[in-house]
Amino acid sequence: MFQSDLLAGKRILITGGGSGLGKAMGRRFLELGAALAICGRRQEVLEATAAEHRAATGGEVVTSGCDVRDVDAVEAMIEQLFAERPLDALVNNAAGNFLCRSEELSPRAVDAVLGIVLKGSANCTLACGRRWLAEGRPGTVLSITTTYAWTGSAYVLPSAMAKAGVLAMTQSLAVEWGGRGIRLNAIAPGPFPTQGAWERLVPKPELAHHFETRNPLGRPGAHRELADLAAFLLADGSAYVNGEVVTIDGGGWLQGAGSFSFLRDMLSEADWQALKPRKTG
Ligand code: COA
Repeated sequence: MFQSDLLAGKRILITGGGSGLGKAMGRRFLELGAALAICGRRQEVLEATAAEHRAATGGEVVTSGCDVRDVDAVEAMIEQLFAERPLDALVNNAAGNFLCRSEELSPRAVDAVLGIVLKGSANCTLACGRRWLAEGRPGTVLSITTTYAWTGSAYVLPSAMAKAGVLAMTQSLAVEWGGRGIRLNAIAPGPFPTQGAWERLVPKPELAHHFETRNPLGRPGAHRELADLAAFLLADGSAYVNGEVVTIDGGGWLQGAGSFSFLRDMLSEADWQALKPRKTG
């Protein structure tokens, strides 16, 4: 789909880059010539992914054990990365989500998701943006949002609130920083099955097929399709795309918005009880 050196010379940080879609994007960016930094909470997962990436592509991958919710940890990570060699792009991919009836959410549950998705994206974006502006360097931010950032969705309220905030950040900073060489865009993916998301978001195994095929194309997205879109949006050739959200969902949200709202008719009281987190200790 692309020239093999599309991203050559670019250094890209992917938050949550150790698994799932972050890992898939990282592999594609390396194949296209980029150098990679990946961060996440579990150092052992990051190291295993970095080793796989290096073996498959021979590319440069550095890892950073960092919880994006922690602004001091993010500052320290970005400071160190820029000291080694400035980043050219940031991908806000780290996310947290689970299914829950909203009246049953505990305050910490809201904080947990808002912390990772909204505050984490702001922490990383502002830390990079400040440095790019101070050094007069161009930069690109790509955030993973969702189609229900526009419409909302039942049963994933903290995620919907957080993703709407990420969308607002993308659009606001695209205007504020666009004239100074920094552009921000977002991708709104439909169903791209990953172990992490499916464990949390598919409430019963027999519903997985429904999640994956409930769109006009009747199939889930392939990770490579999302990774290619991300590569396009980070490449210099898309320099005039700024403040945009590109939906990649097979047309799913046009058919019926609110990715999880349909569960109203599909889950019983017992199903909802079974989804509650088990208290330990
Ligand atoms: N339903 C309702 N509440 C839940 C929940 C669920 N399935 N899972 C966690 N919570 C609540 C907890 O009860 C806790 O609140 P409380 O202390 O008031 O009871 C709060 O959320 C924090 O949970 P905890 O497990 O301590 O937080 P954490 O920081 O370790 O984990 C999550 C954050 C909950 C978002 C966790 O799912 C996570 O780490 N996710 C990252 C990966 C991910 O979600 N990927 C999918 C992206 S689509």
